[in-house]
Amino acid sequence: MMKAAVLYQKGDLPQYLDIPEPKAKADNEVLVSVKAVAIKHFDKGRATGKHYSSHTPMDGGRVIGGDGVCMLSDGSRVYGMAVEGMLSEQALIEKDRIVKLPSKLSNAVGAALPNAVIGAAMGLRFKADIQAGENVLINGATGFTGRVAVQIAKHYGAKKVIATGRNQKSLEDLLKLGADEVIVIDQSDEKILTRLREIQRDSPIDVIIDYLWGHSAELILASLKGTGSFTPKTRFVSVGSMTGDLIQLSAANLRSADLQLTGSGLGSWSKEQIRKLFTEILPEMYERAANGLLIVDTIEVKLKDIADLWNLEVPDGRRLVVTI
Ligand SMILES: NC(=O)c1ccc[n+]([C@@H]2O[C@H](COP(=O)([O-])OP(=O)(O)OC[C@H]3O[C@@H](n4cnc5c(N)ncnc54)[C@H](OP(=O)(O)O)[C@@H]3O)[C@@H](O)[C@H]2O)c1
Repeated sequence: MMKAAVLYQKGDLPQYLDIPEPKAKADNEVLVSVKAVAIKHFDKGRATGKHYSSHTPMDGGRVIGGDGVCMLSDGSRVYGMAVEGMLSEQALIEKDRIVKLPSKLSNAVGAALPNAVIGAAMGLRFKADIQAGENVLINGATGFTGRVAVQIAKHYGAKKVIATGRNQKSLEDLLKLGADEVIVIDQSDEKILTRLREIQRDSPIDVIIDYLWGHSAELILASLKGTGSFTPKTRFVSVGSMTGDLIQLSAANLRSADLQLTGSGLGSWSKEQIRKLFTEILPEMYERAANGLLIVDTIEVKLKDIADLWNLEVPDGRRLVVTI
């Protein structure tokens, strides 16, 4: 038997229980000892049934948590993706989707980083096709993924990174993490639009990575609206929807500017892009984090406290990581 965080009904709190160890059912599955699992919106969305990829819990409960740091039987420490669930002492992972961790990297950072790297680098590279020297705006940059995106955009050669959000402390941190300018979105629409239009006039935004959608995305898109003369090309990539799933967008807004509207998430990437994630992107970002070039903040918690921690709000761009 092993300890695990088990969910019985969508929307319930997970329970800390003893359950039997899982058994591999296919050749690509391997049993591992789990060391650390980050609690992310993706896991919560699946547990409540709100994420578009969520599946019904199986009869008898389902172990939650999608990915994490674990030990293989040969003693190597890897990041892996769970076949069923990861918040347990042992789990099955897909053995062709693993990344070795640099020895200097902590289990907590190793577990927290991949989802944010996916939410930042996959959009920047494969959806926006970011080029060195371009200007990037990150909407909702104050969260864990946004803070990683600011740093990765700079690493990919962004000339200017503009970070938007409502959290003053995190916005100040972002200036130290590489952002060139921050815009507070908790101010009047008029003030936000004025600043965005000034930026668009003086140093046009090439790429927008959006974690919020909702009203702030409406304002950003409205700020790009043209007047019938030539406009610079802007690639807008939706990655998250923290402030709503729907927006209003006028057709004239789309026609009057050279605007490419796209999204980055499970289902939007090619097999080749996923291959690059595991063979190039994650190993590179792990090395950068191990060498202090990619900075994230984690809070380590224990599996036995899972029910109390599940809905905890974690401010200022930090990530809860369950260590086992
Ligand atoms: N598609 C993908 O591949 C992918 C990968 C990773 C993440 N995501 C998605 O990206 C989003 C952000 O993830 P995360 O890891 O950064 O989450 P997080 O660390 O919890 O950060 C949430 C962000 O949303 C902001 N926010 C929440 N409610 C807000 C409101 N009412 N008004 C303004 N800002 C608000 C927060 O601002 P404060 O700092 O002010 O609280 C913070 O910037 C989520 O929707 C997540 O599911 C997608």
